[in-house]
Amino acid sequence: MSAASYYELSADIMPIEQAKEKLIVALDVESVAAARELVDTLEGLVDFFKVGLVLQLASGAQSFIEELLGRGKRVFLDYKFHDIPETVKVAVERAAKLGVEFVTIHGSSKVMRAAVQGRSGKLKLFTVTVLTSMDEDDIHEMGYTDHSVEQLVVFRAQKALDAGCDGVISSAREAKEIKKLATDRGKSLLVITPGIRPDGSPEDDQKRRMSPREAIEAGADYLVLGRPIIHPELHIGPREAAQAILEEMQEALEAKAKT
Ligand code: C5P
Repeated sequence: MSAASYYELSADIMPIEQAKEKLIVALDVESVAAARELVDTLEGLVDFFKVGLVLQLASGAQSFIEELLGRGKRVFLDYKFHDIPETVKVAVERAAKLGVEFVTIHGSSKVMRAAVQGRSGKLKLFTVTVLTSMDEDDIHEMGYTDHSVEQLVVFRAQKALDAGCDGVISSAREAKEIKKLATDRGKSLLVITPGIRPDGSPEDDQKRRMSPREAIEAGADYLVLGRPIIHPELHIGPREAAQAILEEMQEALEAKAKT
C-alpha cells in the first residue's frame, strides 16, 4: 500500500480507546519548544511520550519532563542506562523520584539486579535486548558471532526476567517468543516494540521493522513510534498520522479479541 492510500484510510474516525493505551510517541525533536508543540498537537490522541537521547541535552529537558507529568501525561524515559551497577541503581532511584513510569537499562545481570534495587513506586524497568536498527551482520560485527538476532534477544530477555525486570525492548518480530518464554515459566514480561513502520512509510535506519497491525498481532504491549508520526510523509500532519496508526492498531486489537 502506498503512503498516500495508507493515510487516506483515516478519513472516517473510529473509536481507538484500547489502542491509545498502547501507543508511545518518541519526542525525538531538538528542543523543548518543538516537543511541547508536538504534545499539544497530539492532545486527546496520545497520552504516553518517550523522552530519549535526542531531547536529553536540550535546554530545560528535565523541567519539561516535570511539566509533562504535571499535565497528566505518561513518560517513558529512554536513556538506556548502561554503567557500573551502583551508578545504574542511583540513576534508576532518581528516575523513580522524578515520577516517570518507564525507564530503559542495558547491561549484564548484575547491572539489571542493581537497577531492580533502585526501582520504586510505579516505575517499571525495561532492558534493551538488541536495537531494532541492528541485524545479524551488526551483532556479528560486535562479537556475537554464535547467535542469530532472535537467539540473542531471547537470551537477554531470559536474563531480564531472571533479574526481575518488568519488561524488555525488542522488535515486534521477537515479541511472540519473548511472551512465550515468560509464560512458560509462569511469569510475565512486558514487551515494548520500536521499529514500527506503517505500510508505505520510509524504513529509515530501522532494520527489524513491523507494521502497527503486525506488532499487535505478535502480542506487543506498547508500540513506540517516532518519525512516522513526528515527520510524516506527504501532506498530512502528526495528528492525522497518529490517528491512522491508532485505527490500524485498534482494528488489529479487535480482530485479536475475536480469535
Ligand atoms: O523514529 P522511530 O520510530 O524509528 O523511533 C524509534 C525510537 O525508539 C527512537 O527514539 C529510538 O531511539 C528508540 N529505540 C529503538 N530501538 C530500540 C530501542 C529504542 O528504535 N531497540
